[in-house]
Amino acid sequence: MPLPAKGRSVASESQSFDVVVIGGGPGGYAAALYGASGGLNIAIVERDKVGGTCLHRGCVPAKEFLETAHIRRTIEHSGDFGFTTGELSIDFAVSQQRKNDVVDTLFKGLTGLLKGRKVTVFSGTGRLDANNVVTVTDGADAGTTLVGEHVVLAAGSVPRTIAGFDVDTKLVVTSDEFLELSSLPKSAVVIGGGAIGCEFASMLADMGTSVTILEGLPAILTGCDSDVAAVVQRAFKKRGIEIRTDAKVTGHSPNKKGTKTTVHVEGADDIETELVVISVGRRARTEGLLGDGAGLTINEKGFVETDGSMRTANAKVFAVGDVVANTPQLAHVAFAEAIVVIKTILGENPVPVDYDRVPWAIYSNPEVAFCGLSEAAAKERGYDVIVKKDPFGGNSRARIIGDTDGVVKVIAEKRADGTAGQLLGVHMAGPWVTEQLGAGYFAVNWEATAEEAAALIQPHPSLSETFGETLIALAGRGLHVG
Ligand code: NAI
Repeated sequence: MPLPAKGRSVASESQSFDVVVIGGGPGGYAAALYGASGGLNIAIVERDKVGGTCLHRGCVPAKEFLETAHIRRTIEHSGDFGFTTGELSIDFAVSQQRKNDVVDTLFKGLTGLLKGRKVTVFSGTGRLDANNVVTVTDGADAGTTLVGEHVVLAAGSVPRTIAGFDVDTKLVVTSDEFLELSSLPKSAVVIGGGAIGCEFASMLADMGTSVTILEGLPAILTGCDSDVAAVVQRAFKKRGIEIRTDAKVTGHSPNKKGTKTTVHVEGADDIETELVVISVGRRARTEGLLGDGAGLTINEKGFVETDGSMRTANAKVFAVGDVVANTPQLAHVAFAEAIVVIKTILGENPVPVDYDRVPWAIYSNPEVAFCGLSEAAAKERGYDVIVKKDPFGGNSRARIIGDTDGVVKVIAEKRADGTAGQLLGVHMAGPWVTEQLGAGYFAVNWEATAEEAAALIQPHPSLSETFGETLIALAGRGLHVG
């Protein structure tokens, strides 16, 4: 079944593969690795470096920065444990270098994995033309044409920008440029209070920068359950982060030296700042992705539409990751979609990704993690719900580590007799919740009831006991929680 790869060839010759993947980010490389493990002969066309946004300009470097902030907080609080430290200072260039080292190591590992599984990586921009031909339109392999029995579109996304705020890499940046900064500003305005905005605002504030978040909607983190978003909002305010909601930015005016700029907000005071960070969402990178006769189109919002098997309007062409319409732009969702694609190609009838129940993780301080429906979303869908919340304040491990800010909230369907039935959502804010969500994720996706999940024991003392306590209370009678 697999067609023979011909190795690198002169530009005019086409090479045939079982699967040609356009884009080597988490969606693309996962399809390649998983497909190669399944015996498929795979090519990736990548314009930059395999690993994509996640590894080079997103998840990994951002979390490295947030870990830098975490180390600083730990040192600052070490006096509580009896340590004496001198005045704290940071050489941010070292932090940058460490981040680059982490990224490089992972990049080398990924390159080795792809090589080990005999995935052929072509360098340049891929365009899908008629008859499943993928043309490399630029880069080192420009002019090469590949034919895929199947093609996977995994071209990813780029930060959106806003009118009046041209990115100049100095005063105005998106996440791409922010993650390359060699020093930290004394002040920053973060436009957009979503996942990226809150992670960057949190990191900057912990590192001593004075931060203002300007959010266009009435609240930050509107994708999260409101109780969880409120924990973050309170913690941010306590750390001096100014949050202005319903804010409409109209533009900015740099000073003569180009060292600062003044951000203009409709109907409110201007804000002078050293850095403006734009974090207003990401758009799919689909321009130039489809040539004539590709057999599918890009929708009016710039995304690719698929069915549950990730199949596009062209039955031989799939899409995964951030290019897919109406799905969360998360690396781990792209991984899951890639597995669905490969299983579909191999005829293994995979279960489609249940987008309502994917895990979300925001690595701000405090962290946020959740899966399933928020209380508001559950009610909107007509569920009668029963809800329990337990703050981390009573958790012994949280006391031990000195980080008690946060809450676990579990939402279940209310049965006719008033008891809690199937779990609908698990929402957490607080210490290491991104590492704790796993149990909640399993419970929600296993369609467990409150009693079933509550019967499972959490280790003591552990942060995860707060989730366990919430479940016990939800199942009818609380142990420590009422
Ligand atoms: P987002 O969609 O999460 O948040 C963007 C925010 O900007 C929204 O609150 C929106 O109301 C606001 N906004 C939009 N235009 C605005 C304007 N002109 N003025 C003021 N506010 C405005 O997008 P974000 O944070 O840029 O993240 C992009 C994608 O990457 C998201 O899908 C996100 O889920 C994902 N991501 C996930 C992370 C995680 O799970 N840890 C981390 C980083 C990103």
